[in-house]
Amino acid sequence: MNSKIRKIILKKNKSKIVSLTAYSKSIAKVLDNYCDIILVGDSVANVLYGHKNTHAISLENIIQHSLSVKKGMKKSLMVVDMPKGSYENKKQALKNARLIIKKTRTDAVKLENYKNNFKIIQYLVKKKIPVMGHIGYTPQFKKKFRLEGKNMKEINSLIRTAQSIENSGAFSIILECLTSQAAKLITKNLKIPTIGIGSSSYCDGQILVTDDMLGLSGFYPKFVKKYSNLNRVIEKAVKKYTREVKLTKFPSKKHFLNGSKFR
Ligand code: KIV
Repeated sequence: MNSKIRKIILKKNKSKIVSLTAYSKSIAKVLDNYCDIILVGDSVANVLYGHKNTHAISLENIIQHSLSVKKGMKKSLMVVDMPKGSYENKKQALKNARLIIKKTRTDAVKLENYKNNFKIIQYLVKKKIPVMGHIGYTPQFKKKFRLEGKNMKEINSLIRTAQSIENSGAFSIILECLTSQAAKLITKNLKIPTIGIGSSSYCDGQILVTDDMLGLSGFYPKFVKKYSNLNRVIEKAVKKYTREVKLTKFPSKKHFLNGSKFR
């Protein structure tokens, strides 16, 4: 097992796992100083490409973003989302996971849970591909958002699914939009770490979409804390630039290149 993955597993019940998403080198470079895990999420489809869901992102597309992210990373664990339609059967999943790993040198891939596809995880792990699972609200397969784990029947079913994913060999699992009771019980019942998004603090770690927590994406459900308002920061800068260009205040003499150095 990769030493970075071992380190993540050993954090369970010791210290919280910090994770965020990245789609580019510049963001990954900042996150790498703080995050245990950087995920190249298929949320890139909504966040960067403006699609209404995550389905339209292609394998080639996520590979291109992962190549960029990898360039900004030195120490965090890198995980790449397998796009919808890229792991529909064992053979296809293996071919595509291998392609992602070969091209991007990611440490692991992530698969959303759908029916009994933990068998695909089992197959990939047998073939030495490190896999992160993902249960709860899984946008590749669920059209409408619904909070899960509202009663014991649902919670027990979620625990069973999470255990099947653990038994398949996944090294960690994302819990998306679960009740706090469900998150607490799943986390207690698993040996592998749980990473929550919209699933309370009873998880071994947390993940958010970086563009959401930076106030850049315009998507701010209740579970997202806006740590910044980058939209406002960008708007202020663009407004100032516009004014200065119009008033011929920019570029000023100090920005002219006339025979001087480039930097
Ligand atoms: O695609 C993504 O960003 C994700 C996170 C929300 C966990 O899967």
